[in-house]
Amino acid sequence: MDPNRVLIFDTTLRDGEQSPGISLNTAEKLEIAHQLARLGVDVIEAGFPITSPGDFDAVQAIAREVEGPIVAGLARTHVQDIDAAWNAVRDAARPRIHTFISTSDIHIRHQLQTTREDVKGQARAAVAHAKQYCDDVEFSPMDATRADLEFTAEVCAIAVEEGATTVNIPDTVGYTMPAEYTAYLQRLYELVPGLRDVVVSVHCHDDLGLAVANSFAGVLAGARQVECAVNGIGERAGNASLEEIVMLLHTRGEAVGGLHSGCNTREIARTSRLVARLTGYAVQPNKAVVGRNAFAHESGIHQDGVLKERATYEIMDATTVGLDSNAIVLGKHSGRHALRQALEDLGFEVSGNALNQAFHRFKEIADRKKHITAMDLEAIVADELREEVEGYVLEWFDVEASTRRPPHATVGVRRPDGTELRGSFTGDGPVDAIFRAINSATGIDAKLREFRVDAVTGGQDALGETSVVLELDGRSAAGQGVSTDIIEAAGRAYVRALSNAVRRREAAERAEAALEPEPATP
Ligand code: KIV
Ligand code: ZN
Repeated sequence: MDPNRVLIFDTTLRDGEQSPGISLNTAEKLEIAHQLARLGVDVIEAGFPITSPGDFDAVQAIAREVEGPIVAGLARTHVQDIDAAWNAVRDAARPRIHTFISTSDIHIRHQLQTTREDVKGQARAAVAHAKQYCDDVEFSPMDATRADLEFTAEVCAIAVEEGATTVNIPDTVGYTMPAEYTAYLQRLYELVPGLRDVVVSVHCHDDLGLAVANSFAGVLAGARQVECAVNGIGERAGNASLEEIVMLLHTRGEAVGGLHSGCNTREIARTSRLVARLTGYAVQPNKAVVGRNAFAHESGIHQDGVLKERATYEIMDATTVGLDSNAIVLGKHSGRHALRQALEDLGFEVSGNALNQAFHRFKEIADRKKHITAMDLEAIVADELREEVEGYVLEWFDVEASTRRPPHATVGVRRPDGTELRGSFTGDGPVDAIFRAINSATGIDAKLREFRVDAVTGGQDALGETSVVLELDGRSAAGQGVSTDIIEAAGRAYVRALSNAVRRREAAERAEAALEPEPATP
């Protein structure tokens, strides 16, 4: 393999999906996985199959359907975890089992409540067991950067001895600093010469805002796989952000001996939008590479400079990250064929019923909106995708809003079994009224925690995209909706969040009934 090639291991669907409030269904995970394949990542960590039947099914669907990247499933060192991970990824053209156990004393003592000797035994047994199924096995000593280096080296040596092909050194709690991490990895290479024969990987969290800098420091020390997530989502402050790593290598790789990734950078903006839309985690405006201001120039001096020569104030070209891809324009006279072609140009393969459904929705929106752009189409397709899940659906609504009377809403909501429920409510505002009318129709007393409205594109007739986070029995769930009508988009988002919340509650109840505690996520 090219010694300068840095493998991109995407964990958006595993570590990223562990962010509070994110609950992607299988269709949404598949859509993200297909887009990651278009982006050209090397590995997709598709999930943690033992955690729930839903997670298992999604990993299996990705393994069966998504071509190109290696598909990895996460597993603790327990036999059941490894078996579940293998059963989920085994149908992939290139499956991987990723197993982990902590090596820091703080985790060993307080969380695992065991001993270092036991950790060594578990690591050995887990890698050996995974290896019986799969050639490609990754091992991670969790919380490595807070662990005793010599002990972590012993555990890594065991993993290599048992046949691990990738050894990942996680900065699980975002504690390390670039120079410290470089030194840590260099010393590991000295203590475990076998690491030279496997891929060393880095997995950095962003608690101190150093995830990307630390990952890069790891690469400079010799690591050739970076674990990262689109838009930097992940546990707590998140993971190293994929787009920053990829563009750092693209922009500055030459300065460090020609390091590069295999990603198609022009797919970055679209991947970021898809992940933001489906997870409900908006991208901050000033976020590097994908924030809406990342290529905007406000001050007169900067604008003047960029007009004269782009490179005066830009180190990257917006087109390189795919920010110019809004060429597709459809209108209300466009037919099914034109829609299908436009969707194909965007990489969506839709035919049969899915095409009919997309066409129906497209016509509905085209009646209200003059021009439908590529960004609108992305939003419409993502919105349609959410309708595939078994859940509640907002069939119709009436909302009266006036400054003279309190706003009143009446809704019709279809239950998963097809029956229609009706509810009405007089609220503080039209959005509040529709949300509470939905609660009244379904009899579910969810509490609204977050509500956001964004415009998909500019212009007066822009599609509105809403995002709702609600709480039910202490668990949060998110939903999104798209429409030219904000109230309708809000209602759709709320109903979807409610369906997700109910699904999560049912899964927890099933786990409780089986007396199986939900596994702790890393
Ligand atoms: O942060 C972490 O340590 C992890 C491991 C499972 C790699 O997510
Ligand atoms: Zn992590």
